[in-house]
Amino acid sequence: MQTIVAETDRHDRLKEAVRQAVELLSRGEVVALPTETVYGLAADAMNPDAVAKIFAAKERPSFDPLIVHLPHRDRLAEVAVIPEDIAKPVAQLVEHFWPGPLTLVLPKTDAIPDIVTSGLPTVAVRMSANPVFRRIVTSLAKPLAAPSANRFGRISPTSAAAVVKELDGRIPLIVDGGACHQGLESTIIKVVARPDGKPFIYVLRAGPIVKEDLQPFGKVVFANDPAEKTEVPGQLPSHYAPHIPLRLLNRPGDFVPEEGKRYALLSYRGDESDGYLSLTDWHFTNTLSPGSGKLPEAAVRFFHCLRQLDECGADEIIAEPVPERGVGVAIVERLRRAAAK
Ligand code: TXA
Ligand code: MG
Repeated sequence: MQTIVAETDRHDRLKEAVRQAVELLSRGEVVALPTETVYGLAADAMNPDAVAKIFAAKERPSFDPLIVHLPHRDRLAEVAVIPEDIAKPVAQLVEHFWPGPLTLVLPKTDAIPDIVTSGLPTVAVRMSANPVFRRIVTSLAKPLAAPSANRFGRISPTSAAAVVKELDGRIPLIVDGGACHQGLESTIIKVVARPDGKPFIYVLRAGPIVKEDLQPFGKVVFANDPAEKTEVPGQLPSHYAPHIPLRLLNRPGDFVPEEGKRYALLSYRGDESDGYLSLTDWHFTNTLSPGSGKLPEAAVRFFHCLRQLDECGADEIIAEPVPERGVGVAIVERLRRAAAK
């Protein structure tokens, strides 16, 4: 299959890209689309044959459910049943964070095919804020199932060029909407009522909406609901994996280089005083937030930098830790998974 990359950098091109994407999606094809977090591989969520093509293109195991992206807030009731006891906080969260990088796990309606949720009784749902994505999903006027547009377990794509590397020849169209503004996948939460006081908000996957953002809406817990076993089936210990091994080096003093081995460094600020730059004669270095060390900038650049390091020809990637606050929590979570064998 030939993969076409449709540009959106001029109005006429944008119109044509939207037209092509909508046409393919309505015919039950898959299309890679930009979102504010990472690029997604989208298909009509209500069409099981179309959704099956997502699993095939990604080589994704069928036990890993997809996120459903709504054209509009008002369409939530079509895909999810909102339990009475959390109706108020869910409405507040949706009002405050949508469109945006927050995904809610809710009981599903019968309209959602089982293939989308891997047979789970719940559905993960969000509404993307990316203007190109919004044009396409609102023209189609149907919910879109879309996981990140990488092959299973690999580095998430934050540019159309990265999607080409992952899925070239496997899908008909990639809509190029430029670089993703957030750079990390959405925060996934589950809201659980408490008899007295604010609900629990379980953070099932850390992301751009951080603890401090969610606190006004409930008691934020970074763990799964203890009532259930695997809450996020796709969050395997090894994920976001580069081809070459990655080690998260919490203290520079722990580094003992092996003779003849080529090392690459993923630095946080690229600052000598952090003690990593001078550890060895690096084969290649990349810096998440040069100079200032700003976490949102590190998040935006994270997958892009990881992908460059993966292609630099080193034998091992050494990653500096980043501060575990704000969106740094989500970066460290991905570094740990990228490091897991
Ligand atoms: O930002 C994002 O969320 C991106 C963009 C494209 O929207 N999507 C994304 O999808 O990251 P994906 O498939 O790469 O990750 C979705 C995660 C998986 O780990 C999956 O297991 C989990 O969400 N998930 C999906 N449905 C679920 C459900 N019903 N209950 C719990 N976890 C669920
Ligand atoms: Mg993914």
